Amino acid sequence: MRKVITVLKGDGIGPEITDEAIKVLNRVAEKYGHEFEYKYVDIGGCSIDKYCVPITDEGMEQCKNCDSVLLGAVGGPKWDNVDPSVRPEKALLAVRRELGLFANLRPTKLFSVLSKASPLKDEVTENGIDLLIVRELTGGIYFGKRDTGEEKGEAYASDEMKYWEHEIERIGRVAFESAMKRRKKVSSVDKANVLDTSRLWRKIMHKLSEEYPEVEYEDVLVDNTAMQLIKNPGRFDVIVTENMFGDILSDEASMLTGSIGMMPSASLSEGTRGMYEPIHGSAPDIAGQNIANPLGTILSAAMMLRYSFDMAKEADEIENAVNETLKEGYRTVDIMEDGKTQVSCSEMGKIVADKIC
Ligand code: IPM
Ligand code: MN
Repeated sequence: MRKVITVLKGDGIGPEITDEAIKVLNRVAEKYGHEFEYKYVDIGGCSIDKYCVPITDEGMEQCKNCDSVLLGAVGGPKWDNVDPSVRPEKALLAVRRELGLFANLRPTKLFSVLSKASPLKDEVTENGIDLLIVRELTGGIYFGKRDTGEEKGEAYASDEMKYWEHEIERIGRVAFESAMKRRKKVSSVDKANVLDTSRLWRKIMHKLSEEYPEVEYEDVLVDNTAMQLIKNPGRFDVIVTENMFGDILSDEASMLTGSIGMMPSASLSEGTRGMYEPIHGSAPDIAGQNIANPLGTILSAAMMLRYSFDMAKEADEIENAVNETLKEGYRTVDIMEDGKTQVSCSEMGKIVADKIC
């Protein structure tokens, strides 16, 4: 198969980690006789520096005219004080919105070989952690009306959070369908004791749950979810939630697995095209040192093969290669433990790639 992949390396460690994912993708292409063609587009701070905008119109067109998008990370302190309308993150939100990527899947799995890297006690992790966060990605407070101003000599700011029925229904459906392929449990997370958006959310989720009688369904308040994730993460299978709650909870959940550097994500639309990226940021403090963990990006590339290219065997092969690499004791510094072998970002990419032959 021939596929065109738009690569958005971005800022900070973005270029280093995407290079390793490409190394692995190339190995898959070689082994299985596929052809992956990469089109590189600047996004975020590097684009602001070159073109004064976080993504150009041509860059956006390229994202729309390809088979899938692979992203590293955007942003950094250098651009913290630019005009909010051209912040690096703006480009990421624009791509999500323009490509209609409403469903963000963030699988959180504790690799058993990494159980020591998890900050949780053994008795909490011993039954394993394997949950999927389904985060709504193109609605809510991220895309609501914004207003800043001054009244009676005092500054104010407001961000609107609005949800439409269809936005809730379609993300709910992704969650129930995902649960059907997993352990058949959906935890819908909201703040229905306070917010109207959450009350609408809950109503629609309840209606949907009637269509999936095999799926065990529960409502959990977001504050309680934050606690349960630490206390008893094994109770969750699929968590479905709105944009900002999902952003926060997925960072929390990532730590259960030992490092945020391990966690991949897929952002999907109604069609097959998706955007794939690790959930972590650009980590400017370690950029350029070749010490970042590329596994979250490599696992994101595996998700691309699975969800957008229908290449399940190839995706399994990458995931197994990552597992083997960890089993053999190779670790980047973020997941390093006594007695293991510390490797650089590029070494880690090569070790994983070399397992695919
Ligand atoms: C994420 C990131 C983004 C988000 C930022 C960079 C805009 O934190 O993908 O989780 O908040 O969605
Ligand atoms: Mn985030």
